[in-house]
Amino acid sequence: MQKKIRRRKRRSEPELEIVDLDKMTDPVNNEEATGSADAKNADEEKADHAAAEEGKKESKVLIEFKKVCKKYAQGEHVFYALKDADLTINEGEMVVILGPSGAGKSTLLNLLGGMDSASSGQILFDGTDLTTFTDNMLTKYRTENVGVVFQFYNLIPTLTAYENVALMKDIKSNTTDPVEALDAVGLKDHMHQFPSQMSGGEQQRVSIARAVAKNPKLLLCDEPTGALDTGTGKEVLKLLQDMSREKKRTVVMVTHNSFFADIADTVIRVKNGGIQSIVHNDSPKDASEVNW
Ligand SMILES: Nc1ncnc2c1ncn2[C@@H]1O[C@H](COP(=O)(O)OP(=O)(O)O)[C@@H](O)[C@H]1O
Ligand SMILES: [Mg+2]
Repeated sequence: MQKKIRRRKRRSEPELEIVDLDKMTDPVNNEEATGSADAKNADEEKADHAAAEEGKKESKVLIEFKKVCKKYAQGEHVFYALKDADLTINEGEMVVILGPSGAGKSTLLNLLGGMDSASSGQILFDGTDLTTFTDNMLTKYRTENVGVVFQFYNLIPTLTAYENVALMKDIKSNTTDPVEALDAVGLKDHMHQFPSQMSGGEQQRVSIARAVAKNPKLLLCDEPTGALDTGTGKEVLKLLQDMSREKKRTVVMVTHNSFFADIADTVIRVKNGGIQSIVHNDSPKDASEVNW
């Protein structure tokens, strides 16, 4: 499989630099220079081509950003929370958006989820441009397609875990059974407890169950482990990775923790409102292997 890095080094550079790792010169073992690459027989090339075609079939584009900007008026000036963002996200991918505080990560996530609208550019979801949507259309988009997990869980304190998840049935058809969703996050035995009777990790798992019960195409998580200790955070990461690997959901997670880059299929680095780099990882680590 080809490994590519697209990197924007400086904000002043208009185009992303594309680096193809497979074609970079390896001073120790430079196959191309020695000519051994020519020795590849026709069968191998055919197999490579078939594998590439197979790969293409698997990676259907779900989201595409084209020159997306989000700007705010700041006195007489204009402030860009996000500037000229170009990216694509494939169905079933686990994407990590990394960057320091104030970089524009939440802005990016909120635009993905139809919770905010762009100042300019195009945001294509399954080929349809969200930036042309009315408020009602955006509400329908969020209801049908988007589940969100926040840093501080946002559970309703007067409802039990079961009731918090069951709420999804009121806003959408074809939701997952709440008991099944809670079972998937290991909380079936705790479903009649109120949020105040649960640990932070358990509350976050309820909020993941609630987001997943909606059966969304897109699961968006904004610093989902930000309020958790390492051990509990790992459990949450594992759950999110399983959602992508086993349930084939598209999971997009925002974090400032660079250790999380290792578990992603794609890492998007954001800085000062610009996309710095997009790196595809052919062999992401298992969430249980990450330490921070
Ligand atoms: N509604 C708003 N009005 C003005 N500025 C905003 C608004 N929302 C976000 N910003 C600014 O945009 C920048 C990016 O914000 P955000 O996407 O929340 O960053 P991050 O999630 O990476 O910490 C920050 O400087 C923030 O202050
Ligand atoms: Mg944020």
